Amino acid sequence: MIRLATLAATLAALTICATADAQTRLTIDRSSPIGTIEPEVYGQFLEHLGAQPYGSIWVGEDSDIPNTDGIRDDVFAALDALNIPVIRWPGGCYSDRYQWRDGIGERAVRTNAAWGGTVEPNTFGSHEFFNLAERLGAKTYLNINIGTGTPKEAADWLEYITATKGDRANERRANGRENPWTIDYLAIGNETWGCGGHVTADYYADTYALYASFAKTEGEQPARIISGSHDENIEYSDTILDHPYIASLAEGISVHVYSLPTGDWGAKGAATGFPEAEWISTIDRALRMEGVITDQVAMIEKHEDLSEDFGLYVDEWGTWYDPATEDTPALYQQNSMRDAVVAALNFNIFHTHAERVKMTNIAQMVNVLQAMILTDGAEMVLTPTYHAFEMYKPFQGATALPVSYDAGAYSHGDRSIPAISISAAETPDGNLIVGLVNADASASHSVDLGALGASGFEGRILTADEMDAHNTFSAPDTVMPEPFSVRSGNNGLIATLPPRSVVVLKAIE
Ligand code: AHR
Repeated sequence: MIRLATLAATLAALTICATADAQTRLTIDRSSPIGTIEPEVYGQFLEHLGAQPYGSIWVGEDSDIPNTDGIRDDVFAALDALNIPVIRWPGGCYSDRYQWRDGIGERAVRTNAAWGGTVEPNTFGSHEFFNLAERLGAKTYLNINIGTGTPKEAADWLEYITATKGDRANERRANGRENPWTIDYLAIGNETWGCGGHVTADYYADTYALYASFAKTEGEQPARIISGSHDENIEYSDTILDHPYIASLAEGISVHVYSLPTGDWGAKGAATGFPEAEWISTIDRALRMEGVITDQVAMIEKHEDLSEDFGLYVDEWGTWYDPATEDTPALYQQNSMRDAVVAALNFNIFHTHAERVKMTNIAQMVNVLQAMILTDGAEMVLTPTYHAFEMYKPFQGATALPVSYDAGAYSHGDRSIPAISISAAETPDGNLIVGLVNADASASHSVDLGALGASGFEGRILTADEMDAHNTFSAPDTVMPEPFSVRSGNNGLIATLPPRSVVVLKAIE
């Protein structure tokens, strides 16, 4: 017994040594706001791909799984709790094969040639998407087909969705929807440098201008988004923006940024059971987002004909791992504490670029890549990424504020990256909120909040004992937010962030 007690005391002392490390003082400049964090920064992406949406979001009215008009009740309730501001649909690569008429009225069964030739029943089509968005109170982001479609088909689709008069409006009514829906955002093409046609930037810029000239809705026009480049590639987008008519035909341009542990598309790395080298490399690669956005914004601002409101839309981002087995549905992956850290790091970066980043869409919503939710038959589980989105909800629509702190360093092997990341904002009702991430896999980092003029802070923390801790159908609460508060002690107002943690706090006056 004595020996055990001694061992426990020694271990406790070692733990204290290991965690009593760097401390930084956070300051926030409330007098120089960066800009409004558009709620759409917390947007989602729903592509017809692998195990989405069939069986996971859409089960059909006749399913044994409880549903409302074919949408699963459990998944809907979980999504509803996220205050989803906008959903991009139907792709992705799939959008350039999507025939909208297959998904209205009598449905046509096709194959999904973009994603493995699986059966595409088209039972989730325009009506189902727009009704889902309407029930969630989410804006709509429609990606039109410029690959296998035509400008006429795109124009007809927009008329079907938004017209109040004429044959297409009547056809929509005959299919069960009296009032038009609203298209808030319109993507014209997707990854045209890749799956969207492998075309040059000049060819795409002309094609874009053609489609944008005819893609009109009844009533207010959607914001039109150019499909831009990816990662550090600037040239493709830069060339598109040189097109003489683009400034009058677009409200923004997109960029896609995925984080692979290895950076190698042939061997990306595993979703779970990975070594610390792949924890730090994934986070290092996720942190590239800062440089990507900075460079994209500089490139946009070089084009003086673009309006000050012209936006950068990060309409695909997230982690991308190798499939667990040969039978894993396309792009289905487990989601761990590492993913929650990646998500929160990205949120903090988006906040600091609030003046130009008008929307982002994590890839993707359910069962695909860095998903919010995983399903298997009637079972459903919320991922750590879901919890990060849920914790950061107060940032939607808040005003981003400049922060100053020393991020410290987290090193492993030959890599060294900033250990912590912080963003802050003021909510419309005047509350100061702070999002903090400790990306260090093994050490705590402390943040002195004493300069912020609050008597204390309260909020929640998401953390886990293991780097790859994740939720499963049999253990759904392994990674769950817990209450976290900071009160004034002998040392002042110190938030000690344990390794692998995400914290969101609200100041108490
Ligand atoms: O999100 C999965 C795929 O990644 C999208 O369809 C495509 O745009 C990107 O390459």
